[in-house]
Amino acid sequence: MDNKNITFKSKDLLGIKDLSQEEISLILDTASGFKDVLERDIKKVPPLRGKTVANLFFEPSTRTRTSFELAAKRLSADVVNFSVPTSSVVKGETLKDTALTIQALGADFVVIRHSSSGVPHMLSKILDISIINAGDGANEHPTQALLDLFTIRSHKKKIEGLSVAIIGDIAHSRVALSNIYALTRLGAEVRVVCPPTLMPAGIGELGVKTFGSIEEGIKDTDVIMTLRLQLERQSKGFLPSLEEYFTLYGLTAGRLKLAKKDAMVMHPGPMNRGVEISSEVADGPQSVILEQVTNGLAVRMAVLYLLGGVKK
Ligand code: CP
Repeated sequence: MDNKNITFKSKDLLGIKDLSQEEISLILDTASGFKDVLERDIKKVPPLRGKTVANLFFEPSTRTRTSFELAAKRLSADVVNFSVPTSSVVKGETLKDTALTIQALGADFVVIRHSSSGVPHMLSKILDISIINAGDGANEHPTQALLDLFTIRSHKKKIEGLSVAIIGDIAHSRVALSNIYALTRLGAEVRVVCPPTLMPAGIGELGVKTFGSIEEGIKDTDVIMTLRLQLERQSKGFLPSLEEYFTLYGLTAGRLKLAKKDAMVMHPGPMNRGVEISSEVADGPQSVILEQVTNGLAVRMAVLYLLGGVKK
C-alpha cells in the first residue's frame, strides 16, 4: 500500500463529529487498500508490529470487538482483550485507574466501549496513547458509520446526492448519530424515520428530514438503514408493543418496494428479526448486512493504521 501521503492529525478517533470530509475520505480510501489485502491468501501485513491494542469493552459486542481484534492482528499488533467481569473493576477500581494501568502495561491503543457518553473523550485527556471510540452511550459509534459509508460507496460509487433513510430508535442510537454526521458531511440526503416518542427534539438542526411514516420516509430512497430497537426501551413506555412497532415501522418486502429498485438494505446488527426487519428482507437480495460486517474489518484496520499508535 502506498502510504506516502497519509496523515491523520489526531491521536484518537472519538467521533465522526470531529472529522473533516477529507479525513473521512482518507479512512475510506485506506480501507479500500486493506480490503484488497484481506482478499489475499496471506492477510497479514506488518505496519503495527511491536504495537499493542487493548480492547476495553464495558458493554457486550460481537462485531466491533471481534473485528478490532482481527484488524489489529492482521496489522501484526499484539492484542489484549480486557474482560470486565474478571478484572479489578469488580473490586471497585475506577475507569481512570484501569485505563492508566493498561497504559502503564505498554498498550499503544485503547479501543473502548462504554454505556456512558463521553467516556472515550475523558480517556483521551487522561492517556497519552490512542483512544478509539467503539460506542459510547447514545453518543457516537464512529467506526460503524465509517464501515456503513464504505459499504454504500462500494455499491453506489458515491455518497453525495444519495437519499438515505435511517429507521428506528433515533433518540438513543449512537449508530444513527454517527451516520447522520457522516452522511450529511459527504452530501447525502438523510431522512430519519421513527415514532414521535423516539424522535429527538432539534434533530432537524443536524440537516436531516424527519418522517413519522415509514412509507413516506423510504419512498424512492437509495439506501435504507434499519437500526436495532433497544428492547429495554419497550419497558420505558416509548413503544406500545414490539408487535405494534413492527406493524408500523418494520421493514417488510412490501414496504421495500417503495424505495428505488436497487435500494440497499443495511442493519448494524445485532438484529431483532420480526421487530425492526423481516427475515425475508434481512436475508434477501438487497441486503448487505453481512457485507457490512466484512467491511468493518478493513475499516478498522484503516483506523488503527492511520492513528499509528504513536503519541501525537
Ligand atoms: N454493530 C455493532 O456495534 O455490533 P456489536 O454490538 O456486536 O459490536
